[in-house]
Amino acid sequence: MIANQKGGVGKTTTAINLAGALACFGQETLLVDIDPQGNATSGYGFDKSEIEIGTYQALLDSVPVEKTIKASPMELLDIMPSGKDMISAELDLADEFSRENRLRDALGPLRSLYRFILIDCPPSLGLLTINGLTAADRVIIPLQGEYYALEGLASFVETVERVKSTVNSSLEIEGGVLTMFDPRISLAQQVREQLSNFFGDKLFKTSIPRSIRLAEAPSHGKSILQYDPRSKGGQAYLALAGELLGRRGWEVVKID
Ligand SMILES: Nc1ncnc2c1ncn2[C@@H]1O[C@H](COP(=O)(O)OP(=O)(O)OP(=O)(O)O)[C@@H](O)[C@H]1O
Ligand SMILES: [Mg+2]
Repeated sequence: MIANQKGGVGKTTTAINLAGALACFGQETLLVDIDPQGNATSGYGFDKSEIEIGTYQALLDSVPVEKTIKASPMELLDIMPSGKDMISAELDLADEFSRENRLRDALGPLRSLYRFILIDCPPSLGLLTINGLTAADRVIIPLQGEYYALEGLASFVETVERVKSTVNSSLEIEGGVLTMFDPRISLAQQVREQLSNFFGDKLFKTSIPRSIRLAEAPSHGKSILQYDPRSKGGQAYLALAGELLGRRGWEVVKID
C-alpha cells in the first residue's frame, strides 16, 4: 500500500509510476485504486464516470473479483479502477459486517496471480485506508521533500502499528520515499536527514525529483514510463522499482 494521511504528497504519482516501473521490470502488477478521487484510474486513461464494475463492487457487492479488473495500456499491468460510486463507499462500508476486512478478502484470490499488488488510497485515516492497511503486507510512505514532511508522520505510523497489533500482524513499513525532491534547496537536504533518522535504512535511497514531466503525464492518461521514460522522473521511478526488487534479492532486468 502507498499511504500517507497527508494530502498531495505524491501517493498517486508514486502508485501509478512504481506500478508502471515494476511492469517494465517484467513483474505482473495490479494497481488497486481505493481513492474516491480516482486519480490512479484517470492517470491510466480510464474515465471514472464510465467505470461500471471496479473497487466499489469488489468491496461491497458480491461480484467475482476478476470482473473488477481491467487491463491497463501497459503490458503486465492491470488495474482495479475507482468509479464514481466510490464516493459513497466509506459510508456504505460503515454498516457492513466485517467492514475492515473487505479489501483483504477481495484481494485474497488475486495474490497468487501477481508479483505486486499496489494500493493507492485517499488522504485520510477512514475506513477505506483501514481496509488498505488490513489487506497490505507492506506500506510505502511518500513524503514531500519540503516543509512539514514529518508532520502527521508519527500519528500515521501509530495507526499502522495499531492495525498490525489488532487485525494484520503481517503488516510492516517497507519504507519512506521522498517525493518532489529538489536537492538545490538546503531545506530539502535537512528534511532528508530528518527522515533518514526516522526511518533508518528503510528510507529509500532513491528520491523522486520534482519534475514537470511527472506532473504532465496523467493528463495524457499515461504513466511516465509511457510518456517520457528517459526523463529524470521516469529514471527515478525505475530506480525506485529496482531498489524495491533489490531489497527482495530479485534479479532486475528491464524489458522494453
Ligand atoms: N515528483 C513530482 N514532480 C512534480 N509534480 C509532482 C511530483 N509528484 C507529484 N506531483 C504533483 O503534485 C500533485 C500531488 O501529487 P499526487 O496526486 O501524486 O499526491 P497524492 O498524495 O496522491 O494526493 P491526494 O492526497 O490528493 O491523493 C499532483 O498535481 C502531481 O502531479
Ligand atoms: Mg492521490
